[in-house]
Amino acid sequence: NQLAIAIDGPAAAGKSTVAKLIAEELSYIYIDTGAMYRALTYKALQKDIDLEDEQALLQLLQQTTIDLQQSNNGQSVLVDGEDVTREIRGQQVTGQVSVVAKHPAVRKEMVARQKALAAKRGVVMDGRDIGTHVLPDAEVKIFLVASVQERAERRHKENQEKGFASDLEELKREIEKRDQLDSEREASPLIKAEDAVEIDTTSLSIQGVTDRILEVVKN
Ligand code: C5P
Repeated sequence: NQLAIAIDGPAAAGKSTVAKLIAEELSYIYIDTGAMYRALTYKALQKDIDLEDEQALLQLLQQTTIDLQQSNNGQSVLVDGEDVTREIRGQQVTGQVSVVAKHPAVRKEMVARQKALAAKRGVVMDGRDIGTHVLPDAEVKIFLVASVQERAERRHKENQEKGFASDLEELKREIEKRDQLDSEREASPLIKAEDAVEIDTTSLSIQGVTDRILEVVKN
């Protein structure tokens, strides 16, 4: 019995880290929906498209293939065949992605693609609206939260490990800003699904969070 597992929550709450581990543990596929919004944002910035122009973004998305590929060192994101795995984590994309993601037409197309990707069960999908809109029938729904300070510190460490420039105070501001935009937008805002299990990861280790989720899966 293959399940669908939805993991939602605010920015940098550790969703992708634990989602990957859970997918590995259960031999499920992992789908990072944030990477899809980031990929579109990357291409829109490259093409100098006005990020407030919903129709232009929709048109661009309709002409764009976004592939999420499993590779040895995690996941690669390809936009029209170009590997943008690193580029989509940069400051420029991170700072603008919530503007792209607020447009209902863009979300509708993304959600359709995400549903198709998850059509075969045995999937762990992370994002903001997975439990509420993408996979409302998911057997397991998790909502991960953590304090802004904790999330910024984790991201800071991660950035340093990857050799990215990183400033803790700036990260805090960026995370708060993005959460605000994601929570206040009209189209499928970031919100906990009624039937989701909320886990506060502030004082939990990655293994601790993973174990809690696997417990929920088994019950
Ligand atoms: O998860 P990640 O931080 O990569 O997501 C980047 C952005 O993409 C989020 O801040 C949000 O604006 C958007 N997003 C979304 N719905 C999702 C996943 C991501 O709106 N399911």
